[in-house]
Amino acid sequence: MLKGKHIVIGVTGGIAVYKVVDVVSRLKKLNADITVLMTKNATEFVTPLTFKSLALNYVVVDMFEEPRTWEVEHIAIAQRADLFLVAPATANIIGKMAHGIADDMVSTVVMATKAPVWIAPAMNTGMYTNAVVQRNMEDLKSLGYHFIEPDSGRLACGDLGMGKLASPERIVETITNAMVNRDLEGKKILITAGPTQEAIDPVRYITNHSSGKMGYAIAEEARNRGADVTLVSGPVNLEKISGIETIDVVSAAEMYDAVISRVDEMDIVIKSAAVADYKPAHYVDKKMKKTDDELSIALERTKDIAKYIGSIKAKQFFVGFAAESENVIENAKKKIESKKFDLIVCNDISQKGAGFKGDTNIVSMISKDGVVEHYDKMLKKDIAKIILDKTIK
Ligand code: PMT
Repeated sequence: MLKGKHIVIGVTGGIAVYKVVDVVSRLKKLNADITVLMTKNATEFVTPLTFKSLALNYVVVDMFEEPRTWEVEHIAIAQRADLFLVAPATANIIGKMAHGIADDMVSTVVMATKAPVWIAPAMNTGMYTNAVVQRNMEDLKSLGYHFIEPDSGRLACGDLGMGKLASPERIVETITNAMVNRDLEGKKILITAGPTQEAIDPVRYITNHSSGKMGYAIAEEARNRGADVTLVSGPVNLEKISGIETIDVVSAAEMYDAVISRVDEMDIVIKSAAVADYKPAHYVDKKMKKTDDELSIALERTKDIAKYIGSIKAKQFFVGFAAESENVIENAKKKIESKKFDLIVCNDISQKGAGFKGDTNIVSMISKDGVVEHYDKMLKKDIAKIILDKTIK
């Protein structure tokens, strides 16, 4: 769920450091990339090796130790962060952050970062309720820093009251929700991806170059945003995406059956598969023998899945793709009309970095009312985000 997200965790010195070990372990299981920074005091409670082993990454304590790469380390880490978590946050670090003091790795990187900063305080109740600490927290809140409020209960010092670090479950849930947009929660979405294969005989088939990467990127992004995802996939060499239903198909006819039997229950349908337009008119059930003569294979049209959906769809938001090598916009507009798409994503497959196989694409998107938007070359996963943003809008 957090694949591709980089979380920097600033660990400061309090007994609750041991709970942050669990936070790191949980975030790692969600596939986050993690860099842990520790204050010198934090290392009195847990060694850097513990965090190193769980985060599978180096841990920085000393500002002046040999850098891992020839970058200005505190700036590089600050820029890499998608989110900065300070946990446990002592009264000391909260005070330093509120007053612009940067005198160690944690306080320096947190000052340098432009990523959202989440602070999980943990301290004795007397300290937590102290007017100066409360004022510092209010100041930080008014500057846009976020807090994960501590729990109330028996503290390590034996006192009862506010100041226990929030549970690892709550910390992980809070920052996961903050990083992942859940705007597709409750929506059922069907995505098609990959090529189809149309058999000629038991060993040969007609297909195309689709790798499935575009459709899989959309499926993964939709899952991350809370959708209930069904992926109908042609034969591809991609790893299955966890947390979604994948239905493997081979031919256009199988893809048609898989899609049509599910379309009624869907809120959104996105057809990024490169479905064969033609299939051999007659399947030969034994391997065809070669001769010295020319060979012609009669082809017939496959069923147009998108066209059928366009003719029966009720509530569904319907997104199509167009793979074109000439008159891209004009041809895509014709497809909007004939297949009743609400949005079409067209790629000029003759351009370098666009279309089949690669991790990037160059697309234009056209809405059913004719508005055309062009995008520069970008990663398929970023195009997936834009398609889903438009779908939600
Ligand atoms: O898989 P990748 O390697 O990542 O490559 C991505 C891609 C190039 C396959 C993708 O970006 C793309 O363009 N997919 C659509 C390819 C295609 O079949 O385009 P088309 O213009 O031929 O078809 C138009 C639309 O009708 C498509 O939404 C297609 O899924 C649909 N169609 C086509 C034929 C058919 N029999 N049934 C259909 O539903």
